[in-house]
Amino acid sequence: MNVQLDTDAHTQNHVINSDKFQADVLEGLKNTPKKLSSKYFYDKTGDRLFQEIMAMPEYYLTKCELDIFKNKTEKLTDFIASGNEAFDLIELGAGDAMKSTYLLQYLVEQGGDFTYMPIDISGNILSVLNEKLSVKIPKLEIVSLEGDYFEMLHKAAAMSSRKKVVLFLGSNIGNMNTDEAENFCIELKKNLNSGDVVLVGFDLKKNPHTILNAYNDQTGITAAFNLNLLTRINRELNANFEIKNFQHFQTYDPVSGACRSYLVSLKDQNVKISDEFVEFKENELIDMEVSHKFSETDIIKLAEKSGFKIIGQIKDSKNWYVDSIWQVI
Ligand code: AVJ
Repeated sequence: MNVQLDTDAHTQNHVINSDKFQADVLEGLKNTPKKLSSKYFYDKTGDRLFQEIMAMPEYYLTKCELDIFKNKTEKLTDFIASGNEAFDLIELGAGDAMKSTYLLQYLVEQGGDFTYMPIDISGNILSVLNEKLSVKIPKLEIVSLEGDYFEMLHKAAAMSSRKKVVLFLGSNIGNMNTDEAENFCIELKKNLNSGDVVLVGFDLKKNPHTILNAYNDQTGITAAFNLNLLTRINRELNANFEIKNFQHFQTYDPVSGACRSYLVSLKDQNVKISDEFVEFKENELIDMEVSHKFSETDIIKLAEKSGFKIIGQIKDSKNWYVDSIWQVI
């Protein structure tokens, strides 16, 4: 069974989202420093560039989490599907589900009674995923949900009263600042019931060169990934950014664990976005993305503050990355 929910609602959503996109962009560019949200990186080109990033030798995160999902599948399963209880397996920001496919395959082989519910902001990637899974795991039940995490989590929660297991992989939690991550986990807990489980992927603090290199590749794929948001704004919001007038700049602060990307304006320039003009000074920054790195203590604190009990920690063979398994108390 393979369902892509609400094609009509989805078209309508697109109209609403595009207004929200415009409001977020214009509002973000009024801040000091100017700011754009990395959640908008993922249009069709952005999806493709992120796939290229994941394939780069420097970008170890995906390889580490793949190592866990490939080689520690049984251990993962023990934590998330103990007993024969039926459950919904919800994946936030599923993307192409490269890692979770190993888990899905294993669960189906074991005869687990579950529905897979991938949630993603990119309808494009969800169609790709649906197609891929219907070939790879024909027996899998899928209900895919396009939209914002919590809106869709709400929808998923309303669809059944089964136990929920939520996957939030890829260190996507790293894109939030500390307060946001805490609020996110609190909000997640509100949408779940006692006994429900979440599995969160965290990139761990490690040699700072290793981290910076993963986001500062010499081939310029990460730069293109950041610059693509300007191209998307040009296309979707009728703007006239000149891409060659902006340059990618990456930083990593090993104390806070924040890996940040910026775009630098290479000259004084005015950019028209819809009916507004935005002024950029030479060397003025746009804050594009933060990818936080965590210590074990950071993770324990976050779980405690948001009302979860840590029931398992599974690391890759290099100890660079952890999938932390939490249960609602
Ligand atoms: C998909 C958000 C986890 O922050 O590592 C990769 C995105 N940005 N290279 C990350 C990203 C630059 C990635 N996440």
